[in-house]
Amino acid sequence: MFAKIRWRLLLSYLTVFTSILLIFAAGVRLLFARSLTEQLTNRLTTLGQGAATNAEFENGRIKVETDFIVQQLIHENQGLEWFDINGKSILKQGNIVLNLPFSPNQNQLIIKTRKTRIQAVILPIMGSDDRKFIGYIRVSQSLEEVDETLTKLDWILGSSIIIALILSGFSGVILTRQAVQPIEESFQRLKQFTADASHELRSPLMAIKSNAAVALKYPKAMRKSDAEKFQAIVSAANQMTRMTEDLLVLARAEKHHIRSEFSVNLTAIMFDLLSLYQPEASAKNINLKSEITENMYLLGNAGQLTRLFANLIENALHYTLSGGTVEVTANLVCAYLIVSVRDTGAGIAPEHIKLIFERFWRADESRSYWEGGSGLGLAIAQAIAQNHGGSITLTSQVAVGSCFTVRLPSVKISDNSPD
Ligand SMILES: Nc1ncnc2c1ncn2[C@@H]1O[C@H](COP(=O)(O)OP(=O)(O)O)[C@@H](O)[C@H]1O
Ligand SMILES: [Mg+2]
Repeated sequence: MFAKIRWRLLLSYLTVFTSILLIFAAGVRLLFARSLTEQLTNRLTTLGQGAATNAEFENGRIKVETDFIVQQLIHENQGLEWFDINGKSILKQGNIVLNLPFSPNQNQLIIKTRKTRIQAVILPIMGSDDRKFIGYIRVSQSLEEVDETLTKLDWILGSSIIIALILSGFSGVILTRQAVQPIEESFQRLKQFTADASHELRSPLMAIKSNAAVALKYPKAMRKSDAEKFQAIVSAANQMTRMTEDLLVLARAEKHHIRSEFSVNLTAIMFDLLSLYQPEASAKNINLKSEITENMYLLGNAGQLTRLFANLIENALHYTLSGGTVEVTANLVCAYLIVSVRDTGAGIAPEHIKLIFERFWRADESRSYWEGGSGLGLAIAQAIAQNHGGSITLTSQVAVGSCFTVRLPSVKISDNSPD
């Protein structure tokens, strides 16, 4: 149970931490990419402004001088294009020259080609004499370097996140263990207390029971009303004894997983229980039917398994009205023993199904405790099934009946196995 809590805690911690890291990494990348693009835009603008001075307006036309300085300014991943006022290309220089139609409305653009991305800046050219608008210049640069830097950043961020997650995973395991340990310890102490208290209550209960029984041996020596009171004491003591035994079984059963070397004959247990409960069924006019496969074995504790199925059959008989049917079947299906106890009794409402295995839970709280019932029967049954590596499930319909199915891992029959 605590292992599950620890894992859940660790998982939630890692989920939150991963989300924070991812948001942080995305923010860093976004800012970095934006700053790189801005830097490039500034560089291209400066270059464009420098190169624009080479253009002159002569005889009603823009004329560009391709002098040595411009050639020197351009890097191999940059390009320059001059356009006249109508957007007609006048001159191209450099490697990156966009073969796209010119649009003066866009003063900045990023274009994706098959190989790389290209960033371009478009600037107006003003005549050097009269500062009149004479054309446009488009400066472009491949974003290969920027993309390479961003890829490097992605790798650094990605690997940092993975390393951070591994480290926090390790520390998370230690931290969650430390966090859960005190709860686990107090839970164990509480369980130990339940076990000790139930154990210690046995003797005084026994004393009460035997003293009341002794007093009842001579009913004539006392008033009728006193005898009734003693009878009530015996009955209450019986009920308390059963309850403390149930609590003891529950506290012990949950302590450890059974790793028994003993194979238990489930077929024999089922037949014994059926003959044990047959008289009660007959007395209540309930048809107790069975279909039990021969030679079914499993590893475990015979006493606990008897308790598990006795609880189910007892419940079925108790919660079924006279004239009803209780059917017990036990089969071997794919290495699992499937035992089901089906009744045509009161049934259980859908909203109660998930509560039914809780300790002390009873469908009708107001109903007085029947001799033998404490609300712990199904909690015990489930603990025993789980301790044997199995499970117990329930299907039920109100006023139609219920079916409890126990699934336990079987073991191959060995003839000399002790039962
Ligand atoms: N076969 C059944 N049919 C209808 N209700 C059932 C059946 N088995 C158990 N229940 C319901 O589940 C509750 C818990 O059962 P259990 O743990 O055995 O306690 P108890 O039998 O002592 O009341 C019962 O009080 C009853 O309301
Ligand atoms: Mg019961």
